[in-house]
Amino acid sequence: MGTFTKIILASICVAYIAVKWTSPTFNEESLRGARVVVTGASTGIGEQIAYHLARFGAQIVITARREKVLQQVAEKCLSLGAQKALYIAADMSSDTDPDRVVDFALEKLGGFDFVILNHIGPSPFTMWGGDVEHTKWLMKVNFFSYIQMAWRSLPSLEQSKGSLVVVSSLLGKMPSPFVAPYTSTKFALNGFFGSLYHELAMKKSNVSLSICTLGLIDTEAAMQKVKDIVAIPAYPASDTALNIIITGATRQQELFYPWFTYVVAITREWFPSMTNYVIQNTYNYTS
Ligand SMILES: NC(=O)c1ccc[n+]([C@@H]2O[C@H](COP(=O)([O-])OP(=O)(O)OC[C@H]3O[C@@H](n4cnc5c(N)ncnc54)[C@H](OP(=O)(O)O)[C@@H]3O)[C@@H](O)[C@H]2O)c1
Repeated sequence: MGTFTKIILASICVAYIAVKWTSPTFNEESLRGARVVVTGASTGIGEQIAYHLARFGAQIVITARREKVLQQVAEKCLSLGAQKALYIAADMSSDTDPDRVVDFALEKLGGFDFVILNHIGPSPFTMWGGDVEHTKWLMKVNFFSYIQMAWRSLPSLEQSKGSLVVVSSLLGKMPSPFVAPYTSTKFALNGFFGSLYHELAMKKSNVSLSICTLGLIDTEAAMQKVKDIVAIPAYPASDTALNIIITGATRQQELFYPWFTYVVAITREWFPSMTNYVIQNTYNYTS
């Protein structure tokens, strides 16, 4: 690695550490009694978010498609200390379910302090094979339902000076092979909510908006997809979930987890050829 590259990388690391040091401190008491909606909470990172919130004594509404699993997660939340743990089964590919979830949660909780949008629909980890219908469907689940829920939640968040948290991915900043439909939905999220962030600030809104950029996390779904195809380190879902909550509770604009996803995202902008070479040679693929 050349001296120039080393200086650039060292500067990025120093800047990142400085930002981290000046970040506001997290007070878990601020979540006691907080009214929170978590989507995609039947499994994976969303499930872990629900358990952390439960330990902090929050009032939670969780949603996903599988009612039986949601019921089990809600019961565990109550045993961990949640003040309330309610669930509603919903399919985010439907035109009406995103609104139905928000209305249910508003009725049960009386308002929101946090809305954490986290769900994703299943998508294959393969080369793009021309399935436009799947991509349209995934856009509905991973993108359109997010903006629908966000819009319907904003008036309540405005009243409570609440936080809207959007879970995105490094693949929303840096396209990679085998995930064309998924990466499209995450780019759409980053674009839309990046724009909304400015508009809320310009309107002097009370609502804080956080976008979470995640690297590979060790959920069952993700590990199942990447096994035998790519060998990169996966980070724990429980720690990821805690970082997402802290980002929303401390009203930070962005989370990069693990921290080096920030460096990877910047490296892609500054050294595209090198990044392309690394990406294309990281995946186990023979044509
Ligand atoms: N894991 C990673 O490596 C990774 C990396 C970067 C970003 N992320 C982001 O982190 C978030 C959580 O990822 P994860 O790995 O925890 O995902 P996951 O384990 O696949 O969980 C997805 C959740 O979404 C729900 N869901 C699926 N289809 C749905 C639909 N049509 N309507 C409503 N709910 C639906 C699932 O429950 P049901 O099946 O019961 O509906 C489940 O609760 C996502 O936004 C993802 O993009 C993850």
